[in-house]
Amino acid sequence: MANVAVIGCGYVGVVSSACFAKLGHDVTCIDIDADRISALRMGRSPIYEPELDALVQEGLASGRLHFLDDYPDQLDARVVFIAVNTPGSQEGAADLRAVRDAVATVATRIGPGTVLVNKSTVPIGTGEIVHGMAHRNGNGPFAVVSNPEFLREGSAVHDFLHPERIVLGSDDAWAIDMVAELYAGLRPAIQRVDIRTAEMIKYASNAFLATKISFINEMAAICEALGADVREVATGMGMDSRISPHFLYAGLGWGGSCFPKDVRALTHMAEAHGAHPQLLRSVSEINHHQRLRVLAKLRSSLGPLEGRRVLVLGASFKGNTDDTRNSPALELVRLLLLEGATAVVHDPVVRPERIAEGAPGAVCAASILEGADGAEAAVIATEWDDYRELDFVNLRARMARPLIVDARNLLDGRAARAAGFEYRCVGRPGEEGLPFPVTPALAVPTGVER
Ligand code: UGA
Repeated sequence: MANVAVIGCGYVGVVSSACFAKLGHDVTCIDIDADRISALRMGRSPIYEPELDALVQEGLASGRLHFLDDYPDQLDARVVFIAVNTPGSQEGAADLRAVRDAVATVATRIGPGTVLVNKSTVPIGTGEIVHGMAHRNGNGPFAVVSNPEFLREGSAVHDFLHPERIVLGSDDAWAIDMVAELYAGLRPAIQRVDIRTAEMIKYASNAFLATKISFINEMAAICEALGADVREVATGMGMDSRISPHFLYAGLGWGGSCFPKDVRALTHMAEAHGAHPQLLRSVSEINHHQRLRVLAKLRSSLGPLEGRRVLVLGASFKGNTDDTRNSPALELVRLLLLEGATAVVHDPVVRPERIAEGAPGAVCAASILEGADGAEAAVIATEWDDYRELDFVNLRARMARPLIVDARNLLDGRAARAAGFEYRCVGRPGEEGLPFPVTPALAVPTGVER
């Protein structure tokens, strides 16, 4: 089993370290944040992720997982993963400072023949930059491999241990072999490519998934106009294996630390190099409009939102995570506040400080029913399981007006209406109790031949 080092104890770094230790490798994970490292040494991961704390504790107990808050003089590792943050800059380009710093430092502590692996999502061409920096700063030769991750927050451990594919990009076949060996226990499908192609596969994958969601959200808007049910449309489409049912849930749109940053970065890279990413621009525009469409629904039921008390259920960017980065739910809260509404926010796991940080001025509720007191509308903004089975009777009793806007299509509209609620959702006019349009829609505009 190999000696592996991972630079960066963020989301990707901790999950990868704990999983590589589980696979039997000796793993040293380094981060300059001393508080983070001391928590990890006690078996507490800095992020909320199912199974992760247990896996970190298992790694520590096995003696195969080590956490350091500084670089040792000599890093005894054959493979070093760079898993530091690459935040998006104001212009949309990915900020590579943390990657550069990590490579410059690590290159002085490793021996010739070490493989540096880019696990962070980095702009196309970063592999060459890392290669150049490592050689300038250290005693090479070193090889560089791009090994993008495809982990979803909330199921990252499962995704790591059951990969659908491992993408490895490098000009050095021996380096690809060395990294592939680390995953051998998982028997994954391995795709070997050049380094730029590997970097592009990551961006293209996230951009495609974001496109799929924006597509179904556009279909939802059309369904609303024409009297069809987008959930059934998605089910019917998804039965075609060429389409697949995944990422076809219409709702408030996509968010998180990856899709918004990666779609922007890819758009920026394309524009900077003379390509015209029209589709990507529309994908982002549709996504922003999903939030605005929910506001429009609230206004159409309540009139101007100034002074209205609105309960927003959910603060995280999706269910099963406490991550609020680029959360559609908090974006909606900020928009409500801008319109002068009082926004009361509940989330099963996100701490009130995080909500206050992401949406200054919002009121936090400790429970759904507490938040419902005096509310004139409740909006389901995050797809938490906790919100699938709402206590309609008590909710109605506590709210000042029985209006639910189900921006994630989680509820049974008929049950909500039977409990006395006005129910609004996304792309399902029948569920809202609206009659189908009186005039049948014409599939073919006049003048267009079949
Ligand atoms: C995403 C990708 O799914 C991972 O493969 C990738 O590794 C990761 O980014 C990354 O680049 O690190 P993640 O950000 O955890 O993972 O979130 P997703 O589960 O993909 O959801 C993203 C957003 O899309 C959420 O806001 C979610 O609510 C929304 N979504 C998802 C929908 O609105 N509809 C859907 O059908 C699916």
